[in-house]
Amino acid sequence: MNVFEIREPGSITGLRPATRETPVPGPGQVVVEMKAASLNFRDLLILKGQYPNLRLPVIPLSDGAGTVIATGPGVSRVRAGDRVAGIFNQNWIDGPPPRRALALGGDRDGVLSEQLLLPEEGVVKIPPALSFEEAATLPCAAVTAWNALFVSGHLRPGQTVLILGTGGVSLFALQFAKMAGARVIVTSSSDSKLEKAARLGADEGINYRTRPEWDKEVLARTDGEGVDHTVEVGGAGTLSRSLACTRPGGHVAVIGVLSGGQAEIPVFPLLSKQLRLQGIYVGSRAHFEAMLGAIVQNGLHPVIDRVLPFEEAPEAFRAMEQGNFTGKICLRF
Ligand SMILES: NC(=O)c1ccc[n+]([C@@H]2O[C@H](COP(=O)([O-])OP(=O)(O)OC[C@H]3O[C@@H](n4cnc5c(N)ncnc54)[C@H](OP(=O)(O)O)[C@@H]3O)[C@@H](O)[C@H]2O)c1
Repeated sequence: MNVFEIREPGSITGLRPATRETPVPGPGQVVVEMKAASLNFRDLLILKGQYPNLRLPVIPLSDGAGTVIATGPGVSRVRAGDRVAGIFNQNWIDGPPPRRALALGGDRDGVLSEQLLLPEEGVVKIPPALSFEEAATLPCAAVTAWNALFVSGHLRPGQTVLILGTGGVSLFALQFAKMAGARVIVTSSSDSKLEKAARLGADEGINYRTRPEWDKEVLARTDGEGVDHTVEVGGAGTLSRSLACTRPGGHVAVIGVLSGGQAEIPVFPLLSKQLRLQGIYVGSRAHFEAMLGAIVQNGLHPVIDRVLPFEEAPEAFRAMEQGNFTGKICLRF
């Protein structure tokens, strides 16, 4: 079967076509014929060799969906013909996070592969309302946004949520926050992307290029109080501003490293405002399944910027690197 693999990370040319033996399911395992996959910023970091504890060679990408084509002895959760998506962390089914993550496309081989062998516990069934491409956007970005807002954040209607940028996690956070009746402020480098965010329901937009002190603008738009929740995907370059414009007692979901992973934390504002910082690392299968229920009930559809064929995976990575997209970049097998 055809796959893409990374042997020598460093640049996009490190992503190479390769072949692997067709998988045969053992006890409790299933084989999924992949139909679609989607990219996350993490996948770009892995390809560039900027992700910790890389195991090489690796088949990249954590997020994909397809059809079960074979099941091993004792499999009872799914059967041949079921439409499924893999869960990001194959070790996290429910409850608190496990000591060791086993994430697809990093700790173990991922979904950029025509067929994928997974334990039956490591998949969720996808609802008929979602296409394979839509389902393929969910395992990392959407579950992360869900965990940040509803599990860690306990978001309530009427609260205000700050969302940084218009990438994958951020647009899911926007859609979920609006679904829950929150007021949403979005930042972006681009006015046209802010217009797209407004069409998705964003109440306010701030261009962080033309307003580099965007935290002050957020404070101005919240009567000097700050937001209830910040979906912090920026990391080093944004964290201190995010802390500055989150209200006393507010919640900052620490998710991303878009502008670097080593941030200085201003301790006094943190303690005097009694902020709650919560690190988020995607979520469990139980989070994924709860989220699917909400997506179906609310008729929500992921924002897909473009779909490229499997063979053009390097092109999809290039598009992500250039940043000229909103929402998700997908591949179709
Ligand atoms: N901890 C976890 O569980 C978890 C899960 C998923 C992702 N992440 C992390 O979260 C971050 C986002 O991931 P993603 O896959 O959603 O990324 P993505 O889709 O590649 O998002 C890229 C977008 O982020 C925005 N951005 C870039 N630099 C920014 C900055 N300095 N300030 C504000 N926005 C900025 C830009 O939006 P505009 O073009 O609108 O400016 C850009 O288009 C990454 O660091 C990723 O590693 C973590």
